[in-house]
Amino acid sequence: MTDFAAPPVALMIAPDQDFDGAPVLFRRIALEGGHGAVVSAALEATALGVVTPLVGGRPVTDEVLTPGWSSYEWRLRYRRWEVAPEAVADGAELALALGNGWYRGQLTWLSLARVYGPELAGWARLELVYADGHRQVITTDQTWQARPSDTTFNDLYDGQTIDARRRGAALPTVGVHAIDFDPAKLVPFETPPVRPLQEIPPQKVFRAPSGKVLVDFGQNLVGWVRVKVSGPVGTTVTLRHAEVLEHGELGTRPLRRAKATDNFVLSGGQDVFEPRLTYHGFRYVEVAGWPGGPDAIGDGSLTAVVVGSDVPPTGTFECSEPLLNQLHHNAVWSMRGNFLAVPTDCPQRDERLGWTGDLAIFAPTAAFLGDVSGFLGDWLVDLDLEQAHAAGLVPFVVPDVLKYIAGDPTMPPVDTVAVWSDAAVWVPWTLWQAYGDRAALERQYPAAAAHLRRLAGLLESDGVWSQGFQFGDWLDPDAPPDNPAAAKTPPVVVATAVAYRTACLMAQMADLLGLAEDAAEWRALAGRIREGFRDRFVRSDASGCWVESDAPTAYAIAIAWELLTPAETAAAGVRLAELAAAAGYRISAGFVGTAFILDALAQTGQLDAAYRLLLQRECPSWLYAVTMGATTIWERWDSMLPDGSINPGEMTSFNHYAYGAVADWLHRVVGGLAPAEPGYRVIRFAPRPGGGLTWAKVELATRFGVARCAWQAADGHLAVTVTVPDGATGVVDLPGLAPVEVAPGEHRFTA
Ligand code: BGC
Repeated sequence: MTDFAAPPVALMIAPDQDFDGAPVLFRRIALEGGHGAVVSAALEATALGVVTPLVGGRPVTDEVLTPGWSSYEWRLRYRRWEVAPEAVADGAELALALGNGWYRGQLTWLSLARVYGPELAGWARLELVYADGHRQVITTDQTWQARPSDTTFNDLYDGQTIDARRRGAALPTVGVHAIDFDPAKLVPFETPPVRPLQEIPPQKVFRAPSGKVLVDFGQNLVGWVRVKVSGPVGTTVTLRHAEVLEHGELGTRPLRRAKATDNFVLSGGQDVFEPRLTYHGFRYVEVAGWPGGPDAIGDGSLTAVVVGSDVPPTGTFECSEPLLNQLHHNAVWSMRGNFLAVPTDCPQRDERLGWTGDLAIFAPTAAFLGDVSGFLGDWLVDLDLEQAHAAGLVPFVVPDVLKYIAGDPTMPPVDTVAVWSDAAVWVPWTLWQAYGDRAALERQYPAAAAHLRRLAGLLESDGVWSQGFQFGDWLDPDAPPDNPAAAKTPPVVVATAVAYRTACLMAQMADLLGLAEDAAEWRALAGRIREGFRDRFVRSDASGCWVESDAPTAYAIAIAWELLTPAETAAAGVRLAELAAAAGYRISAGFVGTAFILDALAQTGQLDAAYRLLLQRECPSWLYAVTMGATTIWERWDSMLPDGSINPGEMTSFNHYAYGAVADWLHRVVGGLAPAEPGYRVIRFAPRPGGGLTWAKVELATRFGVARCAWQAADGHLAVTVTVPDGATGVVDLPGLAPVEVAPGEHRFTA
């Protein structure tokens, strides 16, 4: 059917009574006679809160938590679904089941609630087309009514309570009222919807030392548990969720204030409960109150439902080392769990915010693993909006709820900070590299430029960025657990190098978009910063090159972002490899350094050191968590200590994708597949085998088609097969051979 001719006109309506934060707005459909049957139907809906639309008592979609989280102050997404015409019978009910979601539920570690407004409300337009072409439009207005649902409590952090005794019971009905809402805020969905993505059965039901009943789903995941149960009416079954066990019991301390608890009250008959108005990050569930005890938990009683934004998967990686495959798996699952409506830092504790720095670091990995053009493109719209309302300041989190607690002692001073604010430039640049969408780059350019202008104003006259608060090389393993910003590499070194990288990327962006004046301005700025960095922080002579603090991150970023001369770069690579060896090839860098250290080593001929770091199993290292049974990437190298106790730090998530940024290196350098030109129009196939790996293969669904690189090493020979999709070109660059250009198709090489 065709799109609505007129812009959506419907009222945003709220129930006259709140009904435990989960009211259902409804009305009956009255079909217009004389036009034949309904041949097509489409529903558009959204909410201040979250909404499940139903026609004739059935949800019109499997999507959940609609409309997701956007910067509601300025932008509210509405979604459109086709509805089966036969569902639209005369007298059938059109309903909007609401929940608190991000709009009115708790947000942040301060348990802010009602951040965006006090009242839940729904908005909908149902358009029917009859056999004779007649159109009928039913919209939300004051004639609707409201009643309670079976949910008596719902909150994203704390969980949901569902009382099945309410189902089918005669429930009170109240009226509705229109609330003040500017329809200009409505925007169509561009981000993939949130929906159930997968179901996982329990691996094990067992008793903890305390006697409590625990269920292990075998995978740290994000979503909820669907429960099928029968028992005496009024019985309450309680599920508490956690990512890990500690001393055999549910490890809930890392959740901080998030209760992550669902309660289900039984009707006395056969009940199915699915808490769709909350979500949890968990692998383990503690079950209390199960009728008949744990032995009565049978097949199909409990099912974990994985929920997330439905980002199309695009890239895979596999190699001969099972631990690396598990590491890659963990990055995939941390992306899946944290790409839920917005890219969040973590999915489990009282936080779950769109931290910009985490994404700035992880974006290249994300853009390989999935087609994130819609998901991140949409998030960037909010980044721009927040920034435009804050004089060019890119907030720490998007959507920015922290602006409502600015000045609180738990909040660092808010200003432009290195890496986090640079998401305004780094993320669009990553999307440009992955998808080659010039229009998208053009859209982001003004916001990116506003960020750099603001940043430039913070620099000293010699281009050094010394003032203001910085997160710096966040979570350096040598920083104390309670002061994650206290890294070995001083913030001024990280920030100045970051400013240089950002200015360079902006110069390239301006060139691409034909903005010669801007390009010249950014280039001059970059030149000034580079000089300042070198003057203050770099010393070199015939014996070597030294970068301020002599810490790995300082060398990694100076090399990777080209702040050094070629001779210094080589010498810095030697020093970086020495430091890696001195640390026993354990990780000695934080968020920033870790994302670039392997590239810096590989680039300077220190591939062996890079592989040693990659394959290290002792803590801190990427594989330490894997050897501890991790199924997602951890926030800290030692979120779980070797003795099986949880890190005492305040922030100890077991599902944080930032350190999963190493997967990008697995794809490009171990696997050997990278864009040589934006959007993979030219693909670089350049595997650099090492570390005793005997084979690896990497595959990516590019916009041109599937590209592949697979290699096997045996008897000192390297056999490589590459696949170039139609419309693209390949450049094959193998150790010891001159690079060659290849056409679409499959090609084999031996090196
Ligand atoms: C988040 C991080 C974030 C950091 C910034 C933490 O609470 O979980 O991932 O980037 O704060 O300081």
